[in-house]
Amino acid sequence: MGEINNFIDIRAVTYEERIKIGFDNLRGIWKSAQANFTDNTLKICGHPVMESWEDNYMGKLAEIATANGGTILEVGFGLGISASYIQKQKINKHIIIEANQEVYNKALEFASQAQSSVEIILGFWEDTINKLADESLDGILFDTYPLEVDDIHCNHFDFFKEAQRLLRSGGILTYYSDEIIDFSPRHVACLNKAGFSNIQGKICSVNPPAGCQYWQSNTILAPIIIK
Ligand SMILES: C[S@@+](CC[C@H](N)C(=O)[O-])C[C@H]1O[C@@H](n2cnc3c(N)ncnc32)[C@H](O)[C@@H]1O
Repeated sequence: MGEINNFIDIRAVTYEERIKIGFDNLRGIWKSAQANFTDNTLKICGHPVMESWEDNYMGKLAEIATANGGTILEVGFGLGISASYIQKQKINKHIIIEANQEVYNKALEFASQAQSSVEIILGFWEDTINKLADESLDGILFDTYPLEVDDIHCNHFDFFKEAQRLLRSGGILTYYSDEIIDFSPRHVACLNKAGFSNIQGKICSVNPPAGCQYWQSNTILAPIIIK
């Protein structure tokens, strides 16, 4: 019950929805689990990992992450929606980290057709991020999925310290925020603790279908965090 008390709004519902699906050894089985794709959805281990109603939000996140051009890191490939938007921008290099083998295979197909050079790293970001050098990135788009109960609606928080290490001065971090219109005090505290103080955002209108198991609001915040 600890975490749910932080969400005295509609996110309490999507928190409970995920608890019902279950988190038993989810991280342990994620890498080799079957990835169930439809045209508009991706489910892994019964979890609603990605849905195409996020299209315009992914477009906004990609625009934010690529504002400086240069080398862009994307964490989590999913349906490849944000990856496609990143490739529409003028960038030098697109690095993707993806944990699930079958999703990684889709990312390889994507890379073979991409305009700008793509490097794909297989594995959890927690295990692979050290392959990337300090201050080597111009932008980061982080969009994974909570694999543990304590990470529901806040799986980006642990990544902030790595983003601080990896971005060049002036580099931009954005991510699936789990915020409806503004940053919660806890969210700002996590960013501050990682060394970020230039914290802005844009509210994005979205239209998730009734019963969506991970988001039920008509807005979601697109963070613009500048190092
Ligand atoms: C929400 S989807 C990404 C959606 C993507 N932005 C899009 O536009 O389609 C999350 C992806 O992150 C991957 N993932 C989950 N946890 C991860 C982790 N710790 N490290 C790397 N990838 C992870 C999942 O396998 C999944 O493919």
